[in-house]
Amino acid sequence: MNPFSLAGRTALVTGANTGIGQAIALAMGRAGAKVICAGRRSCADTVSQLTDGREIMLDLSDPMAARDVFSDEPIDILVNNAGIIRRADAIDFSESDWDDVMDINLKAVFFTCQAFGRAVLAREATGSIVNVASLLSVQGGIRVASYTASKHGVAGITRLLANEWAARGINVNAIAPGYIATSNTEALRGDPDRNRAILDRIPAGRWGEASDIAETAVFLASPAAKYIHGALLNVDGGWLAR
Ligand SMILES: NC(=O)c1ccc[n+]([C@@H]2O[C@H](COP(=O)([O-])OP(=O)(O)OC[C@H]3O[C@@H](n4cnc5c(N)ncnc54)[C@H](OP(=O)(O)O)[C@@H]3O)[C@@H](O)[C@H]2O)c1
Repeated sequence: MNPFSLAGRTALVTGANTGIGQAIALAMGRAGAKVICAGRRSCADTVSQLTDGREIMLDLSDPMAARDVFSDEPIDILVNNAGIIRRADAIDFSESDWDDVMDINLKAVFFTCQAFGRAVLAREATGSIVNVASLLSVQGGIRVASYTASKHGVAGITRLLANEWAARGINVNAIAPGYIATSNTEALRGDPDRNRAILDRIPAGRWGEASDIAETAVFLASPAAKYIHGALLNVDGGWLAR
């Protein structure tokens, strides 16, 4: 058996219509998984590129939105990828920019994990969760108060769930992507000074691609990672090594 294969497994990826989520969905498909692409908008473009995939609508601004999706069919892999960011100076940061980000990036992640965990444990099956965290799970960032708080929270609940579920057959891990060229980072790449400063600090000398994260997610969801629990895996071109 190829320990890196996802053949026979079903994966659900949130925010699978674009960016890192789309790349993860496609990579999991190439690794043999059946892929359920979840989005608040249509994931038809992603599904059209999969051999075995379908889409469901899932708007995670309701953090409990996924409560029933795992009871319909056995799902073995959950990727919590959907996320948003709001930028403002801390001194001006609004309550809505706090709540909107915390609801989608942290509260929805926890309750989606809970719904997945309940279904997997009820089936006495095994499963894998891959949460998409951030460098701002361990660094402070600037002008992104709720994003930093939410991503620190994602690292924390990843470890908590690993502690509770490692012995029960569920692997819970997170990826901390570095600076990846997606719509999430368009504003940074569009600012010549920030762009130069960021590139100057990345040992690999380039922005990351969504595919850099996707193959790591496949690994963490695969049997090859069965003894990895509670890890926060940096995929950042060496940023945190500086
Ligand atoms: N790009 C980076 O450098 C970077 C670095 C570290 C971490 N990350 C994390 O990686 C993840 C993916 O980000 P990305 O870079 O691929 O950004 P992106 O292109 O903006 O994608 C974000 C995804 O989340 C979805 N989403 C947002 N709000 C949602 C909601 N209420 N319900 C369901 N889905 C929702 C988006 O759907 P819509 O298309 O409908 O908006 C989109 O599919 C995020 O968690 C982000 O924090 C990114």
